[in-house]
Amino acid sequence: MRAALLIVLGLVIGVIGTVVGLNAQRQQQPMSHAVMAVMAHHAGALSQSMKNRQCDAAQTQQHLTRLLQTSADIKDAFPGGVDQPFLDEIAKLQATTEAALKAAPADCAALASAFKPIGETCQSCHQQYR
Ligand code: HEC
Repeated sequence: MRAALLIVLGLVIGVIGTVVGLNAQRQQQPMSHAVMAVMAHHAGALSQSMKNRQCDAAQTQQHLTRLLQTSADIKDAFPGGVDQPFLDEIAKLQATTEAALKAAPADCAALASAFKPIGETCQSCHQQYR
């Protein structure tokens, strides 16, 4: 009786363990989507402001800051491992975003030229890895 109970208990624990493991695996991939979605939100807000020709300096700084902060999570969002060229693309995204922040674009023309290398980095990483 006791042995049968232990076997059932073992099965239950095994099933729970499998579910927890599967959930962990499932949660890892959404992290990459989530990080990219947040970056796309801020990059999108910046392009929209350029389209509307309303490039508020303070808002620009805020979106660039959030873009930079979110880019710090790219590496952790790909737990399957990343190679050196991928890390280089992340570093490039951070360097171009930092440069844009430093340039402190005060109008749409300035934002357009500061944003261009950022957009090019999104694109070049996607061409290789997406
Ligand atoms: C270091 C490489 C790299 C950089 C830089 C990068 N991305 Fe991505 N991005 C990826 C990869 C890889 C995927 C595919 C992720 C996946 O399917 O899990 C992706 C997917 C996306 C997606 C689709 C998300 C989804 O749910 O499928 C969007 C939107 C996106 N990126 C936006 C951006 C924007 C905007 C930038 C620049 C500000 C950027 N990315 C910079 C690697 C990068």
